[in-house]
Amino acid sequence: MSLNPGERSSPRTELFDFHGVSMIHYFTDNWENVQNFQARPDDIVIATYPKAGTTWVSYILDLLYFGQTNSERQSTIPIYNRVPFLEIILPGVPNGKDQADNLSTSPRLIKTHFPVQFMPKSFWEQNCRIVYVARNAKDNMVSYFHFNRMNAIQPEAGDWDSFFQNFMDGKMVFGSWYDHVNNWWKKKETYSNLHYMFFEDMVEDTGREIEKLCSFLGLTPSTEEKKKVQSGAQFDNMKKDEMANYSTLPVMDFKVSPFMRKGKVADWKNHFTVAQNEAFDEDYKKKMKDPTLQFRTEV
Ligand code: A3P
Repeated sequence: MSLNPGERSSPRTELFDFHGVSMIHYFTDNWENVQNFQARPDDIVIATYPKAGTTWVSYILDLLYFGQTNSERQSTIPIYNRVPFLEIILPGVPNGKDQADNLSTSPRLIKTHFPVQFMPKSFWEQNCRIVYVARNAKDNMVSYFHFNRMNAIQPEAGDWDSFFQNFMDGKMVFGSWYDHVNNWWKKKETYSNLHYMFFEDMVEDTGREIEKLCSFLGLTPSTEEKKKVQSGAQFDNMKKDEMANYSTLPVMDFKVSPFMRKGKVADWKNHFTVAQNEAFDEDYKKKMKDPTLQFRTEV
C-alpha cells in the first residue's frame, strides 16, 4: 500500500489472531528475524501497550543518555529512528529489527509493543534493562481511538461505540490491554531488571519519575541536566518538535488528529457516556483481579 495518506487506495489492515493475540501483518511479517534478535547486555527496551506514553519515555531516555553530548542528534533525527520500533516492517523503509541492529549508540534504545510472551528471548538471556510504561485503560482507549483514525497503517477505528466494545474484547492491534499490563506486571516477580511505570505518575510529577528512571538505569545526571530533560520533555515542547511529534511520517494524517493530541489524564470523561462508564467498570473488575496493580483514571 502507499505510505502517503493522500493516496489511500488500498483498504486499511485487518486484525488477525497471531498466537492468541490480535495483530496486523506489519508487526508480524518479520517475526522470525525479530525472534532471533541478538540483544546486548546494555540494550534498554521501552515496552508499552500502544498509546501509553512510549514516545514520551523514549524521548526522556534519549535525552538522558545523549542529550548532553549530541544535541544535533535531537534536532536532526526523528525519535522513531533514534529509538527503533523492533517489530515493525513497512514497505520501502528499513525494518525495525535492522534499524536496531545498526544502531551505533551505546546503549541502544529499542521500542516494542509486544506482549511479554512475544519478547525475543535474547533480551532475557542478556538481562537487559526494560522500562515498561502503562496507562489507565480509559485514557489509553481514547488515545488509541484517535490514533487509529489518523494512522493509515492501523485498522479503521470505526465509530466510538464499536471501538469501545472492541477495546474491552481485546480486538486491538497488540491484543488485550488487560492481558498486556497484567502479564508485564507479573513478569516483575521473576525478572528484576524491569521498571514498571505509569503515565499518570509522569503527568503528576515528571521530575520524580525521571529520578526513579535514573536510579533504575544507574544514571547520575546533575540537577541542571535533569531540569533540562524535564523541560525538554514537556508536552508543548515535544508537540512543536518535528523530530518528536511524528509530523515527518506520511502515514499519519494530522488533519484527522495530531499524534501529540492532548497528553492529559481523564480525557476519557469527554468520550465515555455514563452507561459506557458503568459497563466498563463492571467488566474491568472481572478482568483486573490483581490487587497489587492499580491504575488511576484521574490525578
Ligand atoms: P493522547 O492521545 O491522550 O494525547 P505513544 O507514544 O505510546 O503512542 O502515546 C501517545 C500518547 O502520549 C498521546 O496521548 C500523547 O499526546 C501522549 N504524550 C506524548 N508525549 C507527551 C508528553 N510530553 N506529555 C504528556 N503526554 C504525552
